Amino acid sequence: MALDKKMEEALNEQVNAEMYSAYLYLSMGSWFEDQNLIGFANWFRCQYLEENMHGMKIYNFINERGGRAVLKPIAGPETEWKSFVEVFEQVAEHEAHVTSLINKLVKLSRDISDYASESFLMWYVDEQVEEEATADELLSHLKMIGSDPNALFNMDGELKARQPSANVVPIHMNQAASE
Ligand code: FEO
Repeated sequence: MALDKKMEEALNEQVNAEMYSAYLYLSMGSWFEDQNLIGFANWFRCQYLEENMHGMKIYNFINERGGRAVLKPIAGPETEWKSFVEVFEQVAEHEAHVTSLINKLVKLSRDISDYASESFLMWYVDEQVEEEATADELLSHLKMIGSDPNALFNMDGELKARQPSANVVPIHMNQAASE
């Protein structure tokens, strides 16, 4: 069954929302990199790539269903934050917002009896549970750390371990390759 036009438009909006998420996290990563917190920068770069993948999955789905992914301008993300906690507060708020967007898409798919879209969107419902939990966890760790630089460096070290997916260029790969 061909993709309903209303659903196609709504999914295209979600491609844009996922690409905006990617852009926002890349911007946050650059902010951390500027402060030499490479573990945090690595975490955000992995997050950027994951959001890109979220957008591309929807892009593919639209095209597979006989619609057309139409790319819209991506809004400019913030570039400055007052504190580490403020960054992660925004991440947590943003992920809660994305969850509400996914929920609206699921509702639309149910309203128009588009079971293929509903089934496809369940992956995002599950993913958002994980995304929100991770954001909340990192935010609470940062709040606990407060102004203790040793704890912050430890957390930065832990975040360095996050692995990007196979088709991704890890942060500082050029330096690693030349060592
Ligand atoms: Fe694609 Fe972080 O939600």
